[in-house]
Amino acid sequence: MKQDGSVTLFNQWRKKMRAVVIHQAGAPQQLAMEERPVPQPKPGWSVIRIRAFGLNHAESITRRGGSPSVQFPRVIGIEAVGEVAATQSPALTVGERVTTLMGELGRQFDGSYEEYVLVPDTQIYPLPLSGDWAQLATIPESGYTAWGSIKNCQIVAGQSVLVRGGTSTVGIAAIQLMTAMGVHVTATTRRAEKSAFLKRQGAEAVVLDVAGKLQTTANYDAIIEFVGEVTLLDSLTHLKHPGGYLNVTGELADQWTLDGFSSFNIPSGSYLTSFQSTDINRQWLAEMMQLIADKHLEFPIGAQFTLDEIVAAHELLDAGTADGKIVVTV
Ligand SMILES: NC(=O)c1ccc[n+]([C@@H]2O[C@H](COP(=O)([O-])OP(=O)(O)OC[C@H]3O[C@@H](n4cnc5c(N)ncnc54)[C@H](OP(=O)(O)O)[C@@H]3O)[C@@H](O)[C@H]2O)c1
Repeated sequence: MKQDGSVTLFNQWRKKMRAVVIHQAGAPQQLAMEERPVPQPKPGWSVIRIRAFGLNHAESITRRGGSPSVQFPRVIGIEAVGEVAATQSPALTVGERVTTLMGELGRQFDGSYEEYVLVPDTQIYPLPLSGDWAQLATIPESGYTAWGSIKNCQIVAGQSVLVRGGTSTVGIAAIQLMTAMGVHVTATTRRAEKSAFLKRQGAEAVVLDVAGKLQTTANYDAIIEFVGEVTLLDSLTHLKHPGGYLNVTGELADQWTLDGFSSFNIPSGSYLTSFQSTDINRQWLAEMMQLIADKHLEFPIGAQFTLDEIVAAHELLDAGTADGKIVVTV
């Protein structure tokens, strides 16, 4: 039986693993390597052998103590790619390539900065893509967040879409996915020297974002906003109406509320919405992976580290200078 086979295979592996644990909020140096027991599967929960994971802006916030619901000690990390190591679920197969992301991963229960992770079966998703583990690790959280934002805006081929905060890893994923769909993508950055990089991702045009003002008079069918409240009012003035969509996905400037906002800032007949990747729609995730496979998309790897180098990986995450996803192989 699968359940027996799984546990047998699991028991052949060693009993201890390495895990990166935060005991106290603070600088990257708070990420401490420890030896821990390999987790055991239990009803409704399976163990994944993590092969690689991507780093996220949100993990830097959590590490610094900015996620009030996260209690330390905690292994953080909100996404991973790997193989099912042990399971009691008839829907999963030991050795199957999978991904896990979001939910309470790395928040209410231990996350991906370790060799094996115990996750709810409901939070394990197929990974039907080829490529090495580091490349696959660029996809789940950035790709799904970009895809959810695209779906929220009901974007279709031929439309013009602005990605505000285009050099962010989620922004890059949004540019590549929409370009593959046949969308005319414009991307923003505060750094003129990033124009060529953004065009290599598929952006037809690049607009500079100077002190929160877009250096263009153009309007767009949809805008995906990653910078957040500080640029929201300016973005709304570049939304076509009626029928435009503005989706707030990120708060890169770290300002989460907006004084002086009026509903009448939303252009008449257009829509303001937000996307949160907390709850994963399996169909959307599968659609996104299919598009990546069909169009042979490769989200850029900004830098690659091993688990032992996690402090250096977080230092680069905090610097915000990686051109692409920072990935850690395990
Ligand atoms: N809603 C969700 O479910 C969800 C899921 C994942 C991520 N997110 C959010 O999406 C955003 C992007 O995440 P990420 O991990 O992709 O980010 P990231 O890769 O760390 O973003 C780096 C980029 O952010 C830009 N940036 C940094 N500070 C900025 C500021 N004050 N104003 C304008 N731009 C700034 C820089 O662009 P330039 O220097 O080129 O201008 C930089 O290249 C974050 O806010 C993250 O929390 C949301």
